[in-house]
Amino acid sequence: MSVKKVLRMGDPLLLKTAEPVEKFNTRTLSGLVNDLLDTMAKQEGAGLAAPQIGVSLQVLVFGLAANPRYPDEESIPMTVLINPRIEPLSDQMEDGWEGCLSVPGLRGLVSRYTHIRYSGFDQFGGKIEREVRDFHARVVQHECDHLDGILYPQRMTNMRAFGFEDELEKAAEAKMADEKE
Ligand code: NI
Repeated sequence: MSVKKVLRMGDPLLLKTAEPVEKFNTRTLSGLVNDLLDTMAKQEGAGLAAPQIGVSLQVLVFGLAANPRYPDEESIPMTVLINPRIEPLSDQMEDGWEGCLSVPGLRGLVSRYTHIRYSGFDQFGGKIEREVRDFHARVVQHECDHLDGILYPQRMTNMRAFGFEDELEKAAEAKMADEKE
């Protein structure tokens, strides 16, 4: 159980398709889940996928209670999701800003389904199935992409909406001040 190094964009492991987990409720799987939870907590992320710590398996953790990186977002229950499947429940998509621990310091605008059903298993083999919307749906789509070797910049259609977090914040603040006047 420890904080692991998070691989950064450019590492070929992040482009690989992850393998499904075949055995649940094992010490190895619990160890991996704990490493993911510890690493996500340390980095203050909203989610982390096993390939990001160098393990090419279909294992995700995500969740958000009052998170300083996402002050305006709703909370998401802390979840371990293994061998996930996603089904969009409508064609509606929405643009939103995303970041990724494997793409540190940057933010980009990405279009995602706003209403999905996802399913999978917890680390003990218990079935998980949820219908979610908006930010929760966005986080799950982002994390599942990691299992297909996809990082969010590959989903971007407008590269002008991509930049360093602090610069984007500065620009947003300046724009808000302008609009007040
Ligand atoms: Ni990510």
